[in-house]
Amino acid sequence: MQITGNTVLITGGASGIGLSMARMFLENRNTVIVCGRNIHKLDGVKRQYPGIHTVQCDVSSPIEVTRMVEYIASHFPSLNILVNNAGIQHQYDFAKDENALQKIDEEIDINFRAVARLTKMVLPNLEKPPEAAIVNVSSFLGIVPKRSAPLYCATKAALHAFSQSLRYQLQGTPVKVFEIITPLVDTDMTKGRDDDAGKMSPESLAREVIRNMEKDRYEIKPGRTKLVLFLNRVVPSLIRNAIGKR
Ligand SMILES: NC(=O)c1ccc[n+]([C@@H]2O[C@H](COP(=O)([O-])OP(=O)(O)OC[C@H]3O[C@@H](n4cnc5c(N)ncnc54)[C@H](OP(=O)(O)O)[C@@H]3O)[C@@H](O)[C@H]2O)c1
Repeated sequence: MQITGNTVLITGGASGIGLSMARMFLENRNTVIVCGRNIHKLDGVKRQYPGIHTVQCDVSSPIEVTRMVEYIASHFPSLNILVNNAGIQHQYDFAKDENALQKIDEEIDINFRAVARLTKMVLPNLEKPPEAAIVNVSSFLGIVPKRSAPLYCATKAALHAFSQSLRYQLQGTPVKVFEIITPLVDTDMTKGRDDDAGKMSPESLAREVIRNMEKDRYEIKPGRTKLVLFLNRVVPSLIRNAIGKR
């Protein structure tokens, strides 16, 4: 797909992977809008990258999302790429954690329900231009889950299945469905984890994503993802043991 001249909305685009993607799209001469919950982070983005447009929106709030979709429709009617990137990860013991019920709701609401709802709401806009895309940021943990984040892994598995089914349904329309099966990336989400050496930089990830989008590779497997998924196929017990213990 063409990677210049688009209008791109990136959820959770004020930091980490979302911000790197926003910068990469901006460098490639696209109109870029990012949303997030924290107004100070969004103001910081605006100061550092005046070319990036910002909207405050909690994607798990149906009222705020409706407001954002209306705002985009009136100010950026040419929107043709939605990047569903906003996400959180709670690491906890499912059986023992006293706040597990709240964490279950938060992860499902932000990582999955919000993606499905926002995608449904912007689809009528996307079907108009000659070319459009939905880009879902999932994780290899949706395919090879780890021990410490059961709901997180489950939401990413749901996103993986959703991306595939939606791609089938939208075949023959202008809307392409991409999925970034993300490896471990160096962002706030993974700060303080002891596996620093294996982390990909968000800039390298964004570069690889753009290169793959340009070639219409719908399932994008950046960095170590390819190797992990290969090992999961040929020596499943080895890879499941290694990741399953984390
Ligand atoms: N880092 C990794 O190793 C890794 C691996 C696989 C997949 N991923 C996925 O990549 C995506 C981005 O994560 P990241 O690593 O870049 O983490 P990050 O730096 O923590 O970024 C997440 C962004 O999402 C925003 N966000 C969270 N909840 C939101 C909500 N309810 N509404 C709107 N924005 C929200 C946050 O901003 P506010 O707090 O201001 O809202 C933040 O800017 C996530 O979906 C994550 O699951 C990351």
